Amino acid sequence: MLESRAGKGFLEGMGSARAEASNLTSGRISRIRRGVLDWYAREKRDLPWRKRPTPYRVWVSEILLQQTRVETAIPYFRDLMRRFPSLRSLSRARVDEVLMAWSGLGYYRRARNLHQAVREVEERYGGKVPRSAEALRSLPGIGDYTAGAIRSIAFGERAAAVDGNTFRVVARLQAYRGDPKRSGAMGRVRRWAETLVPVRDPGVFNQALMDLGARICLPRNPSCEKCPVRGSCRARKQGLARSIPPASPSRSRRVREVAAVIRRGGRVLLARRPEKGLLGGLWELPGGEMVDSLPEEQFLRDLTRERLGLQVRVVKRLGEIRHSIMDRQIRGVAFDCRVEKGRLRTRVYEACRWLSPEEIRDVPITGATRKYLPHLAKAARPREVEV
Ligand code: ADE
Repeated sequence: MLESRAGKGFLEGMGSARAEASNLTSGRISRIRRGVLDWYAREKRDLPWRKRPTPYRVWVSEILLQQTRVETAIPYFRDLMRRFPSLRSLSRARVDEVLMAWSGLGYYRRARNLHQAVREVEERYGGKVPRSAEALRSLPGIGDYTAGAIRSIAFGERAAAVDGNTFRVVARLQAYRGDPKRSGAMGRVRRWAETLVPVRDPGVFNQALMDLGARICLPRNPSCEKCPVRGSCRARKQGLARSIPPASPSRSRRVREVAAVIRRGGRVLLARRPEKGLLGGLWELPGGEMVDSLPEEQFLRDLTRERLGLQVRVVKRLGEIRHSIMDRQIRGVAFDCRVEKGRLRTRVYEACRWLSPEEIRDVPITGATRKYLPHLAKAARPREVEV
């Protein structure tokens, strides 16, 4: 069964001269397909979105997986499907409800785009996810990769889905040393991937490549000896597997942040970040990145005066968190602060609210603020001043 599936339609869409030039000959394509598909039949991961791959479920899963590891995405996927079992239910939700469900995952633009995009699908396509690459790519948050994944997995269309993992697998098969961030490299690898994707069950093949990239063809330490297509891998033959794709220099930045815990009654002051920009519209403990070498307490005092109009006394160091977001590795410290004078007003923030621990659970908060919550709970309550 897999033999005929793997062998069929191998050179569609590709002139034989081009196939020869790339070394993707019909025999090699068949061997790669068969190797990958047989391995997947034995080893495929049991993932919730694979059970019923409707266009809506595949779409949501692929958006989650754009910047999130599979193990982290699984509970979020299940929760999203419970809250919004259909495209229509998601389109009718308020954006805050979607952000709540996304809370802690980061890259919140994905949630906003998904929400906006399902609304467009309701309006423009009567609630049916479109099938064409062009229509899909016109929706917010859907690029070449996601369009290819939805088309192949949910609709059975012969389309490639090249993300970081599949890029690495295909580039190694071809011993291609291009940097995926350089223009041209992605297009080149995508064309090879398109040639490899079979007519039958293209979505199965794409997911097999994804799993191979996640489990065997690893970035730093590939398990070539276990690889089902090691015999067809040009990088392995040339001893290049580890150096493909080339490592890009780390741009990660260490950042120090401070956060103010200002209390009133049993409530804590939370501020809503501006709608536009990083973590837009999420609630957080007021604070920010240290931009100079002042002591943390003094920096926090200046910050609360500037951003909230409040003069505070920093009374206690509550605890520290570590948090990574985009290219920043954050070390954050929260302090209990007591208001001495001033009138609360919002400047950079969109809004401020006094929230009880229960109420905090009902608003979308940033990942860093989520990590501060246990520190808040264990802190003794100082005397408070009404503001
Ligand atoms: N990464 C991105 N999409 C995926 C999928 N559908 N299955 C497993 N890993 C993935």
